[in-house]
Amino acid sequence: MIVDFGQLTPRDSYPWLINAINPRPIAWVSTVSADGRTNLAPFSFFQGICANPPTLMFSVANDRTGRKKDTIVNVEHVPEFVVNLVPYALREPMNLSSAALPYGESEFERFAVAPAPSTHVRPPRVGASPVAFECKLDRIVRIGEGPLAGNVVFGTILCAHVSESVLTDGVLDPRKLDTIGRMGGDTYTRTTELFTMERPA
Ligand SMILES: Cc1cc2nc3c(=O)[nH]c(=O)nc-3n(C[C@H](O)[C@H](O)[C@H](O)COP(=O)(O)O)c2cc1C
Repeated sequence: MIVDFGQLTPRDSYPWLINAINPRPIAWVSTVSADGRTNLAPFSFFQGICANPPTLMFSVANDRTGRKKDTIVNVEHVPEFVVNLVPYALREPMNLSSAALPYGESEFERFAVAPAPSTHVRPPRVGASPVAFECKLDRIVRIGEGPLAGNVVFGTILCAHVSESVLTDGVLDPRKLDTIGRMGGDTYTRTTELFTMERPA
């Protein structure tokens, strides 16, 4: 079959994207409002971009009514954020934090996620996350407008807080990191079954 995106509404396009493009890493993003209230939400349209300068991106869709999500409102006011990685052990609070709470109500407090202070930016990080990237906003690229349109957030990575527990000989060890990935719908994957391949010369 051919799925003709030109004939689909945004809501009908969405499942084809999230069911097909996977597994996706999860950015668990902490931000603060202009008056300092914290926010935490997961985004799986997430990737590293380049190392010069060290840059990552995540994409926040407008909600079904076309309203900006709290993360975007916050980053527009306070152009800083932390991307916390999500190991299997943190899957439940990560999932809970995707609830649409009223603006200004903190997912850290509501779901008892312990924050830890950041060193370069105002938003706190997730204390139990094994890797947390402190970022300053590079730019927001808007794709489309209205419901489900994209706000692609690019961030320059200022520093990473890395737990010693996920290192082997000083290098990040994917077997210890135990990150989860998002598949379609409510399905996730673990990174416990790894294999290696040598790159061609
Ligand atoms: C694993 C997971 C991945 C998600 N990925 C995205 C995403 O890439 N983009 C998006 O707009 N929403 C995504 N969501 C939904 C947001 O987390 C949800 O809309 C949240 O309420 C936004 O929070 P905020 O309004 O505090 O920014 C995801 C939810 C989960 C559970």
